[in-house]
Amino acid sequence: MADLVITIDGPAGSGKSTVARLLAKKLDASFLDTGAMYRTVTLAAMQSGVNMSDQEKLLEVMEKKNLNFSSREGIMLAHIDGADVSEQIREPEVTANAHYVASAAKLREKLVEMQRDFAAGEEKIVTEGRDQGTVAFGDADIKFYLTAQAGERAKRRLTELRAKGRSDRLEDVQQAIEERDKSDKNRAVGPLRPADDAIVIDTTELSIEEVVETVLGCVKEKCPG
Ligand code: C5P
Repeated sequence: MADLVITIDGPAGSGKSTVARLLAKKLDASFLDTGAMYRTVTLAAMQSGVNMSDQEKLLEVMEKKNLNFSSREGIMLAHIDGADVSEQIREPEVTANAHYVASAAKLREKLVEMQRDFAAGEEKIVTEGRDQGTVAFGDADIKFYLTAQAGERAKRRLTELRAKGRSDRLEDVQQAIEERDKSDKNRAVGPLRPADDAIVIDTTELSIEEVVETVLGCVKEKCPG
């Protein structure tokens, strides 16, 4: 296990990916975007045309396909059978289907195992997702849970989509976010919730820089070394 493990969990649009990436850079730590793993398995299943509600079929896809994850300069790269799918896994169709993989207990087990293996090879790691502080790294050195009002999270997501040339409507983006929250919070395995010992930060009124400063301050206080 790494000497320093920092977990950042939270709902979509809470700022956790950006904050985790910037924090990792400041601490010279590795960065693990676990959402990319759920997205990659989802895309592989979509490409294979299997019934997404069939856990055994999803498992077969995971076993047959060569799924590879690596982190380069703070960006998570994902490959399926050698093909770079790092951009494709961000498509809204993949986002909409990720809940099938996220609620399949056996797949979560395998993905958590892969996350722990990844951390074992690193000296310091900042890992973000939904269950990093509660399940994957219950004994992490410091845990954060970022949250923000759904309307603000939808605006942030819309800005990202517009930057990619898409013309989605704010109401639709907010609805998709709220549906994802519901599914993430209510699943039986690895549900989205703050760990009992997590530091909870509401980022609604904060800039990314302010969140990074707050998080960094907590890390320096709790782990001075
Ligand atoms: O964070 P991101 O939006 O990329 O995650 C995609 C999906 O993967 C989420 O909607 C969530 O359902 C799932 N996920 C999860 N557990 C994690 C990370 C992501 O269930 N640790």
